[in-house]
Amino acid sequence: KLRSFLRQDRKEICEILCNGLARQEYRGYDSAGIGIDGDKPGEVVYFKEVGKVAGLRKLIAEAKIDTSKVFTSQVSIAHTRWATHGVPSIQNCHPIRSDPNSDFLLVHNGIVTNAAELRLVLQKRGYKFESETDTEAVAILIKYVYDSQPDKRVTFTELVKTVLKELEGSFAFVFKSKHYPNEIVTARRGSPLLIGVKTEKKLKVDFVDVEFAGQEAESKTIDPLSPSSPGGLLVPPSGPKIMRTQSRAFMSDDGLPQPIEFFIASDAAAIIEHTKRVLYLEDDDIAHISAGELHIHRLRRNEDGAQTPSTRSIETLEIELAEIMKGKFDHFMQKEIYEQPESVVNTMRGRVNFDTNKITLGGLRAYLPIMRRCRRIVFNACGTSYHSCLATRAIFEELTEIPVSVELASDFLDRKTPIFRDDVCVFVSQSGETADTILALRYCLERGALCVGVVNTVGSTISRETHCGIHINAGPEVGVASTKAYTSQYIALLMMALQLSEDRISLTERRNQIIHGLHELPSQIKTILAADRSLQILADGVLATSKSLLLMGRGYQHATCLEGALKIKEISYMHSEGILAGELKHGPLALIDENMPVIIIMTRDSLYPKVQSAFAQITARKADPIVVCNEGDDGIPNNVKTIRVPQTVDCLQGLLNVVPLQLLSYHLAVKKGFDVDFPRNLAKSVTTE
Ligand code: F6R
Repeated sequence: KLRSFLRQDRKEICEILCNGLARQEYRGYDSAGIGIDGDKPGEVVYFKEVGKVAGLRKLIAEAKIDTSKVFTSQVSIAHTRWATHGVPSIQNCHPIRSDPNSDFLLVHNGIVTNAAELRLVLQKRGYKFESETDTEAVAILIKYVYDSQPDKRVTFTELVKTVLKELEGSFAFVFKSKHYPNEIVTARRGSPLLIGVKTEKKLKVDFVDVEFAGQEAESKTIDPLSPSSPGGLLVPPSGPKIMRTQSRAFMSDDGLPQPIEFFIASDAAAIIEHTKRVLYLEDDDIAHISAGELHIHRLRRNEDGAQTPSTRSIETLEIELAEIMKGKFDHFMQKEIYEQPESVVNTMRGRVNFDTNKITLGGLRAYLPIMRRCRRIVFNACGTSYHSCLATRAIFEELTEIPVSVELASDFLDRKTPIFRDDVCVFVSQSGETADTILALRYCLERGALCVGVVNTVGSTISRETHCGIHINAGPEVGVASTKAYTSQYIALLMMALQLSEDRISLTERRNQIIHGLHELPSQIKTILAADRSLQILADGVLATSKSLLLMGRGYQHATCLEGALKIKEISYMHSEGILAGELKHGPLALIDENMPVIIIMTRDSLYPKVQSAFAQITARKADPIVVCNEGDDGIPNNVKTIRVPQTVDCLQGLLNVVPLQLLSYHLAVKKGFDVDFPRNLAKSVTTE
């Protein structure tokens, strides 16, 4: 009777997994897969489908799963993917296995940045790869470590620990293995991970002790096959060396062991319908579940040797499902604005080395010589993506000394713009599916130009049809108004310019200054986000009732004004225009009077004096502008309303200045009661001309 709530047949298990995936689908939706126990010990049954979870459900429904087998214990894993390495395909869909016998299989969120090096080493050792994913290097690495164990007495946890020490990048993993039936190991670094605990009775403990290995596996052997992997592959210690401080079984309050279900997920949304009792793992935690027990181990001791925190508490979530999907946010757009301190890091991860000031864009490597020799670079994009091109054009030209033109894809096609074989054409698109940009790409391909993609969606048409490119790795963007994709595109283009100019010694100082600025960026964005309340007050005030809003700036900030104005018009349906401050006297000045709301961007760069004179021209005509300026700038008159932002390098300032404008547009739309995430007449991906 006690066991009555446990899942016992495969159909039910598949159902739970698919429901969990569907609830996390907003995190990624290009393919979905599950791996469950088969009939024989160690056998794994996979279901994988490209596209949304609905497709996977259909596949499972058509598979006529045998429900006769009853499981008293079952370990199953599932994943919904947002591609970073390799196109969406069945092969690249998780769970990823180490070999056709599924000795080990795993699901992975995040990016392993040294996967290419690991792959090379493992291939030289005779291991075969069947996917293009970074994850497969991890699956095969764990098999390699297991295979090289002389006595096979190593624990599953110890194996995972050995593997994790070889990995760079960010991850949340769940491992399953034929060699360790009914056991599961999960670990994280940089990607979220939680464990839900479901029992029928009340838990006697509401925490789990963290255990430390008695002996750290320090004996590294340099692998001669792996010149590029700093430590080489670790030869694991023979035999387990785990010293248990205290192991904690889950007991009911009557002291008896009880049936228990564990749900591991990257988001509480996936499991909330089963349990609200969750335990959040921390970076470098390795959790092992077997025989109803959960043990948490640390990958390494803390730097200072301290063993804190030594427990993970089991919390009871108070929130409901709908809230969890968007976390603490009311809308996806707001969530995505707030994700920017992390999404910009993800764009730079494994590409910008802040110690050596070196940029490595693997996807462009083979094409750099052609790019450096080209006669001009043509950026091509639409909407927000076009603005990211405008924002980086000046620094691109400064660093590369190659002329850059920026084209709106639709106009580029209308004009039948001349394109030549020695042109480099860069196509920037969040979705990778924008029809105008795709047509412009095909036009340039036909004319023999080198075509480079800067895309968020791996496997999208633009990423497939370009010769080479960069994935911006901003993660799925759900809100129709693009926010985090803009900042990530901006950084991707900047990294491209930095990489192209790496051989120019005279620019070393400038490049180092920019790279240093990139390093500071996440914390500076956080500073701006912390001032959100004041932007809300601004939006709720006079702006909410205004009919129109002008945004002006010049130089690097012209693109920021255009992007800010686009955000405002698309979600708050208010007329808004980005104006180049240098053009003011050629027409727009006629619009200015005491009733015209104006935002003017006056952050400190070489054009500051010129923007000051634009400020003087509009205030002389009774405008009462809101000024976006740097913290501590005392050149702004005291009676002027300001939005203060941290100062950075001139070419990065737009990355900071755009954030308050995103927030302002968001609050304006909320105040007006509009559907922020799905504005009228617009679609996230514009697949028609
Ligand atoms: C604005 C917005 C659109 C897109 C444009 C291009 O917030 O989202 O302007 O930027 O439709 O889309 P992608 O980047 O997918 O090619």
